[in-house]
Amino acid sequence: MLKLVLPNPKYLDSVKNAIAEYKAQPSLFDIHCITKMIEAEKDDFKNYFHEVENKRQGIDLPEGHVPNTTLWLIDDEQYIGSFDIRHELNDYLLLNGGHIAYQIIPSARRKGYVKAGLKLTLAFAQENLHINKALLTCHFENEASYRAMISVMQEWGGEEISPSLIDNHQEHRVWINTQPK
Ligand SMILES: CC(C)(COP(=O)(O)OP(=O)(O)OC[C@H]1O[C@@H](n2cnc3c(N)ncnc32)[C@H](O)[C@@H]1OP(=O)(O)O)[C@@H](O)C(=O)NCCC(=O)NCCS
Repeated sequence: MLKLVLPNPKYLDSVKNAIAEYKAQPSLFDIHCITKMIEAEKDDFKNYFHEVENKRQGIDLPEGHVPNTTLWLIDDEQYIGSFDIRHELNDYLLLNGGHIAYQIIPSARRKGYVKAGLKLTLAFAQENLHINKALLTCHFENEASYRAMISVMQEWGGEEISPSLIDNHQEHRVWINTQPK
């Protein structure tokens, strides 16, 4: 069964396998929470669970950062990918990042996981954070991510807005309803 969970040590064996995959096949578009997981492995996740929980609760955030919930996508009790939800937008996230970021392990790509996980994440954002429309952004060259967000937008409703120009590149920007039509 496919589900989202808050990071939990009981999945660490499959997370360590995932980290090996992420390290072996880095992409230009790897997201921040994956970099953090890779760093956390170095000291065997000593502070990791405490830190993600603090971010969720908005404790000790770096200047200008907003609270963030990291979720793991689990299928058949194995880690498949990560989804991050920013609880609110700031000026930077409006242009680059939006509410939700995601990454799927290389061996599980092109099987529909990000679209399925994104729908679960949108529903989580509605239920737990009262976000009614979520902004998603992606680099103009990230075709897989763009196709995923457009596909879910068409199914659940929303709108694409003008791209942003940030850090010398363009970002697609798509609002998606957090409840199905
Ligand atoms: C982007 C990413 C999350 C897609 O995950 P995925 O589970 O493979 O995606 P899905 O199987 O759900 O497919 C989503 C759509 O993208 C298409 N797609 C998937 N991989 C693709 C690729 N390499 N090239 C082109 N299209 C691709 C699928 O056909 C599907 O399109 P459709 O809905 O029109 O049929 C995954 O490639 C990844 O983790 N990339 C690295 C991190 C990243 O880019 N994160 C997003 C940052 S904005």
